[in-house]
Amino acid sequence: MGVTSSAAHLGFLVTLGLSVVLLVAALVTAKLHKVKAHIGVVAAMVVALLATIYFAEAVGRHYYIDANMQRIHLPLAFLAAGTLLAPLTTGFLHWRGRVGVKAHKISVGIWGVLLLLALGTGALMLMASKPHESFAPGEGFVPPGESLTTPPRETPTPTPSPN
Ligand code: HEM
Repeated sequence: MGVTSSAAHLGFLVTLGLSVVLLVAALVTAKLHKVKAHIGVVAAMVVALLATIYFAEAVGRHYYIDANMQRIHLPLAFLAAGTLLAPLTTGFLHWRGRVGVKAHKISVGIWGVLLLLALGTGALMLMASKPHESFAPGEGFVPPGESLTTPPRETPTPTPSPN
């Protein structure tokens, strides 16, 4: 059974807020050179980010997603998720004394830019999409069970009334 619309929205807002707070805490603990706290907060942030992705997906299931925005958002979201490995790896290597802090900072910067782009385009995509209850068939929207490559459905032409 899927998550209800309100539970998905609430879960998304809570986990997104938590992720942002933990990201700020990761930056603050790093600046203060509190390494153990930094690593702990980063671990919690990764879990919060995974939960955010889960709830974002659950929210999306209650919308007819705008196909054009989805084409822009999805690659950025996958890039942001994938490049999270860069700050995690360089952070670990810096901790073990294998790379300088500069490599870690650069990877944090690259990931941060992609994360902002993913969040921004995700918000724009949701704004351009329609909740299921307000659906009016139209081009650019992907009904459930159909993919981006499904050709648009033909709109039935109204049959003229006999009189
Ligand atoms: C997305 C995850 C991460 C972010 C956003 C992040 C962010 C940062 C930033 C911005 C700095 C530089 C602070 C400064 O000197 O101005 C830093 C330093 C550092 N990070 Fe990370 N980091 C992350 C993951 C990790 C991980 C996974 C580890 C280790 C397992 C780690 C270990 C360290 C260490 C040892 C330092 C140096 C702290 C010091 O100067 O005393 N980081 N991190």
